[in-house]
Amino acid sequence: HQIQTINMTENIQKRILELREISNKANYDYYVLETPTISDFQFDEFYRELVQLESEHPELITSDSPTQRVGGKADSKFDAVKHNLPMLSLGNAFDFDGLKAFDKRVNKTISNCTFTTELKMDGLAVSLRYENGLLAMGLTRGDGTEGENVTQNLRTIRTVPLKLIPPFPEIIEVRGEIVMNSSELVRVNQERVNDDLPPFANTRNAASGSIRQLDPGITANRKLDLYVYHTGVLSEKIADTQTELLENLTRLGFKVVPLHRHAETISKVWEQIKDIEKRKDDFPFGTDGAVVKVEELKFHDILGATSHEPRWAIAYKFPPDEKQTIVTDIVLSVGRTGAITPVAEFEPVLLEGSTIARASLHNEDEVERLDIRVGDTIVVRKAGSVIPEVVRVLTTNRTGNEKKFFMPKLCPVCGSDTIREEDSAFIKCTNFFCPAQVKERILFFLARGNADIDGLGEVMVESLVDSGILKDVADIFELTRDDLFTVERMGNVLADKILKNISVGKNLGLTRFLSGLGIPMVGKVASKLLAQKFGSIDKIISSNQIELENIDGVGPKIANSVKDFFAKPHNLEIISRLKNTGLKMTEEIIQISSTSVFSDKRIVLTGTLQTLSRQEAKDKLESLGAKVSSAVSKKTDYIVIGNDPGSKAKKAEEFSIRILSENEFLKMLSLD
Ligand code: IVH
Repeated sequence: HQIQTINMTENIQKRILELREISNKANYDYYVLETPTISDFQFDEFYRELVQLESEHPELITSDSPTQRVGGKADSKFDAVKHNLPMLSLGNAFDFDGLKAFDKRVNKTISNCTFTTELKMDGLAVSLRYENGLLAMGLTRGDGTEGENVTQNLRTIRTVPLKLIPPFPEIIEVRGEIVMNSSELVRVNQERVNDDLPPFANTRNAASGSIRQLDPGITANRKLDLYVYHTGVLSEKIADTQTELLENLTRLGFKVVPLHRHAETISKVWEQIKDIEKRKDDFPFGTDGAVVKVEELKFHDILGATSHEPRWAIAYKFPPDEKQTIVTDIVLSVGRTGAITPVAEFEPVLLEGSTIARASLHNEDEVERLDIRVGDTIVVRKAGSVIPEVVRVLTTNRTGNEKKFFMPKLCPVCGSDTIREEDSAFIKCTNFFCPAQVKERILFFLARGNADIDGLGEVMVESLVDSGILKDVADIFELTRDDLFTVERMGNVLADKILKNISVGKNLGLTRFLSGLGIPMVGKVASKLLAQKFGSIDKIISSNQIELENIDGVGPKIANSVKDFFAKPHNLEIISRLKNTGLKMTEEIIQISSTSVFSDKRIVLTGTLQTLSRQEAKDKLESLGAKVSSAVSKKTDYIVIGNDPGSKAKKAEEFSIRILSENEFLKMLSLD
C-alpha cells in the first residue's frame, strides 16, 4: 500500500513538472518568439490542471512554477541593494556628426570593429540575477550603483522567465528595460481617472510606477514586458558578439530588444537609424531613440568605460516629437495662490504615447511672445517628454479669422480685481475667498504626501466647493453625511468609506499638516525641519523670526513667509477650528544627542556593511546628529568602509579623511 502511494505521488509530481514545462514553453513561444504553438483554449486546460494538482498537493509547489508569479505580499518599502556591476548610462549623439565622432573615438583605440543598431527602449532599466537557472533577484537601476529590490513585482511579468531554458550558466545577470505599450497605457489611465488618480504622462512613467508598486497584485494587473539588451555578472562567457549575445539570451528564454541590426560601418548605422525613425510611431512600445554598440564583445573590455558610460556604445535620441494642431480656445485657470494662467486648448493630438489637448501658456508675456490666437495652427510637443508645450504658431496658416487673446482685468472665476505685482509675470486674483483658489487650496491640502484622504479626489472636492459646503480646509473635517449626499450619485457605502477615511485622516501629524497648508516657500523639506524643531503648531505660531532663521536649512525668506502666514487672523482661525475637530498637529521630536562623537559630522558610507544595512546605518547616524552624504568632499569628517568599497575610499585617502572600518564604526556607535 505504501509503495503504491509513493508511486502515485511520483506520478503526480511528474505530471506537475510536465504541465509546468508545457506552460512555460507555450508562454515562451507566445510572448518571446511571438509564434504561438498551442491555442488559448488548450493552454487554459493545461494551466487549470496544474492549478488543480498543485492545490491538492501544496507540498509540491515550487517558486518557479508558472502559477506562482503573483505570490508575494505587499511590502512597506523596497530594500536597497548594491549592483554587482554598476548599471551605467549612455552618452548621447544627436546627429550623424555625433555618430561619426563616436566612430572616430572608438577607432583610436581599436581597429576593424563593426556595429549593431538597437532600439532604445523607453522604460525602466532593471537587472535580473539568475542562479542555477532560477530567478534569484531583480533590481531597478536606481542611481546605477544601488537599486531597489523589486523581485516580487518582476515575477508577475510574463516575459520575465522564472526559470531559464537549459543549458544555462550557473550565474547570469541580464539587463533590460521594463516597458508598457501604448494601448495598455490608455487602459491603465482610464482606470486611474475612474479612481480619481492622476493619469500617467507617458509609457515610461507608467512602467516605472507599476514596478515601484508596493503591492505586486497591482503590478500583475498591468501588462508590462521585459526587453533584454545586455548582461551583468556572468559565470561563463556566452557570446563573442552583441548579435550572438542577443541570440543566446533569446535561447535562454528572454525577449530581447526588437529590431537589432548589424552594420559594417557608421554610415550604414545612420541609414538604419533613419529607417527606424520613420517607423517609430508604428511601434506598440515606447522607444526614444537607438543605441549603437560595438559588435565585437572583446573590444568592449579594451574600450572600457568612464565613470558614467561605456566607451563602446552611444545613444541616438530622436528629436522630440512635434505635431500640428488648431487652437480651439484659450481659457484661464486660477491657481491656489490666485495666479491666473492662460491655457491653450487645441484639437487632441497623440504625442509620445498619450493624447494631449491643452498646454499651459504660463503668463501674459508668453502669450505675447508666441502671439497665439484662437484658430491658429500651432506646433506642440512635450517638454522633457512630459509636459505639453506650444512651440510656435504657424502664422502663414492664418486666414484672418483668428481671435486675439487678452488677459482679463477681472478674475474669470469670481469677478474680483486682478493685480500684476512688480517683478512678477503673473496676474493674480485678489480675492482670497475666490472659489477657484479655495478649491485649489483644499485639493493641495488633500494631495498625496499631504493629508491624502482616499475618496476626496478632484471631482468630489469640486462638487462640494461648488455647493458651498467646503469653504476652507477646516470644513473637510466637519463634513457630515448629509453634506456628502449633496454630491451626485453618492451611495451609503461610499459615504461611509469617506467619513471613515476623514476620521482616520485626523491622525495627520505636524509635517504633513504644515506642507498641506501651502505656506509660500514651505514645501515638504521645510515642513519637516519646522516640525522637528518645534513639535507642535502652537510652538511654531508663537516662535519668533530669530528662532526660525536659526534652523539649519530655513533662512530669513522662509522665516518671513512663516511669520506672515501665521500673522493672518483668518489662518489662525482655521487652525483653531481644525484643532477642535481633533486633527493631530503635533509630532514627536526625535532627540538628537549633541554629545555624540558623530554630532554635526559629515559622514560617507561606502561598500557593504556586514552588521547593518546602509539605511540602518544612515538612520542611526542621523539620529546622532550626523549628516550622511553620498559624495566624498574635503568637508567629509569620516568615511565608513564596508566590503567592496568603490572609488570613494580612494578619494577619501587623497583628502586624508579619517577612515573607519566597520568594527571601529560599531565601537564608536556603542560609545554613545
Ligand atoms: S545598453 C552599459 N541598450 O538607456 C550600457 N541600453 O540612456 C548598458 N536603454 O541606462 C545599456 N534601450 O536603461 C542599452 N538597447 C539598449 C537600450 C538601453 C534602452 C536604456 C538603459 C540605459 C539608458 C541610457
